[in-house]
Amino acid sequence: MSSFHRDTWVEVDLDCIYENVQAIQEHVTQDVTVIAVVKANAYGHGDAQVANVALEAGAKYLAVSFLDEAMSLRQQGITAPILVLGASRVSDLPLAAKEDITLTVFQKEWVEEATSAYQGSKEVKLHLKLDTGMGRIGARSKEEVAQILELIEKASNLQTEGIYTHFATADELQSDYVERQFERFHTLLNQITNKYRIPMIHCGNSATTLRFPKRIFNAVRVGIAMYGLTPSPEMEPELPFPLKEAFSLHTKLVHVKRLSIGESVSYGATYTTKEEEWIGTVPVGYADGWIRKLQGMNILVDGKLAPIVGRICMDQFMIKLPHELPIGTKVTLIGEQDGKKISSNDVAAKLDTINYEVPCMISYRVPRMFWRNGSIMEVRNYLQTNH
Ligand SMILES: Cc1ncc(COP(=O)(O)O)c(C=O)c1O
Repeated sequence: MSSFHRDTWVEVDLDCIYENVQAIQEHVTQDVTVIAVVKANAYGHGDAQVANVALEAGAKYLAVSFLDEAMSLRQQGITAPILVLGASRVSDLPLAAKEDITLTVFQKEWVEEATSAYQGSKEVKLHLKLDTGMGRIGARSKEEVAQILELIEKASNLQTEGIYTHFATADELQSDYVERQFERFHTLLNQITNKYRIPMIHCGNSATTLRFPKRIFNAVRVGIAMYGLTPSPEMEPELPFPLKEAFSLHTKLVHVKRLSIGESVSYGATYTTKEEEWIGTVPVGYADGWIRKLQGMNILVDGKLAPIVGRICMDQFMIKLPHELPIGTKVTLIGEQDGKKISSNDVAAKLDTINYEVPCMISYRVPRMFWRNGSIMEVRNYLQTNH
């Protein structure tokens, strides 16, 4: 277990993630493979820790964005199948083969190059990505899909294990666009499923999985719901089961002072006391991902809401305390105190962004403390090289 030497930390409640994955598995039935999406250090929650608990809870596959993220999981001892969702280099095929990492393909030229460049005897598993309306990566035409599958079929060291697509608007209750994507996916699948036997077919992110459990084929790629966050605010009243938020962020007061009326706080002197005020300093700043736009946000101290006053600095900011408090008092930026809660949703609302961005933006400078079965299981300090 690594140690840390600053009074700011993230807590990740792995029990919540375990329960969310179990609930998702039940929701889609046991016949459907849950692919736990742990890209971006598991949306800031800790890649291997989340991967392990998701696998324990029933997930059978993991997904990441690029090969380095998959390698990070392998280096931490994870042997489960891993799908890389983004583009990979043809030159990395031997590495993917060696580490048993599944790659996404979506371009005929890539597959052509791969068949001549990769001569290894070990088979690489591939999932073919179809662009049905996301406009990001994916083969779009019947012709290209047929050409890619034929090239892979001819290569003795490549296998099409899966075929998938990604929806752009599944989290919006207005369903026209997602229905169009479903339709295009079905059309493309119809022309190939009688010719090729592809074991895994998937189209579901969290929103699709929660909303359309009967239309998700035989695997789902679940990210945000696993972490206990709803894909969009409009889906909140529609949730088929409650989600448990796993991520919280805490710090402690490092300085407390009484300022007289008319004194200013922080860079730019943008805040001036209107009366005699107790001001507390906390050791978190924009280099930790707590960005300057969060000035004015209320956070929790001593079970009460306290506003961030003055500009947020790189490593510290100030809050207006409800009353004098001792140095070392716990301050919660995301999470609960005395029944009051600040969710990643509240931070996202303040920033006019999506909840996905919030745990992702809390940087590597903030150590992660992992709770499992009600006690601390592990601490990860990303600044220590021996983690
Ligand atoms: C291709 C793909 N599949 C699945 C996911 C997981 O999405 P969500 O976190 O909404 O479940 C993502 C995340 O952005 C993705 O890019």
